[in-house]
Amino acid sequence: MSRINRRSAPAKLLSGQNPHGAAAEAYRVLRANLRFASVDRATRSLAVTSALENEGKTLTAANLAISTAQAGLRTLLVDVDLRKPAVHKIFVAPGRTGLTSVLVGLQKMEDAIQPTQVENLWLLTAGEKPPNPTELLQSESMHKLHHRLTAEFEFVIYDCPPILPAVEAVDLGALADGAIVVVRAEATPKDAVRQAVSQLELGHATILGAVLNGLKSGHGYGYSYYAYSYGA
Ligand SMILES: Nc1ncnc2c1ncn2[C@@H]1O[C@H](COP(=O)(O)OP(=O)(O)OP(=O)(O)O)[C@@H](O)[C@H]1O
Ligand SMILES: [Mg+2]
Repeated sequence: MSRINRRSAPAKLLSGQNPHGAAAEAYRVLRANLRFASVDRATRSLAVTSALENEGKTLTAANLAISTAQAGLRTLLVDVDLRKPAVHKIFVAPGRTGLTSVLVGLQKMEDAIQPTQVENLWLLTAGEKPPNPTELLQSESMHKLHHRLTAEFEFVIYDCPPILPAVEAVDLGALADGAIVVVRAEATPKDAVRQAVSQLELGHATILGAVLNGLKSGHGYGYSYYAYSYGA
């Protein structure tokens, strides 16, 4: 059983922060905006992706998952970035088994899902790195697993790979009820964002919005957690 290790978990994780602070507020606003972005139907599963690597997908997915769990929804965070898995690192959880072992039939879904110290939040880490991540994530087993996960949990968040280098990110975006695109403030080239959005559209994903990650705080110093959501 895994626990968030409060001492060694990265300080950027919302669970170790003041629930009334700016970071927690930014993710609450994001959660609320997601509800407005899909007024006609409930979003029960969400793919968090980006155009390129290192834009803040994992941090956004993890903090959104914590925020959703803290709001009282049974939430599952799934690491579907099989090339560069990170959820087990950020939560300091065992990462050797997980999604890949479930997909190839080595482990039962219920045995692979790990609780966390955050009430209402569970993790499905990526597991062993497979030689064929695209094939695995596009497989019938992934589709079936998605249906079982969404039946079991009130909200499922997929921490996805980036779209331009990893084709399966589009399929994951389409598998989930909606997708959000994380854009690193002042870093991601506009063309890359445009290409990523058009690939998601071509793949029939429902784009709920974009998150501008890493805006400087009002004081202009150090890290900021400002995550603004706006229509795509
Ligand atoms: N808003 C932020 N404030 C401070 N640090 C941040 C912020 N967003 C991301 N980071 C840091 O930037 C690095 C990359 O973030 P993260 O792992 O979330 O990105 P990613 O898009 O998931 O990357 P990858 O493509 O490798 O999966 C991490 O060290 C993370 O802690
Ligand atoms: Mg990541």
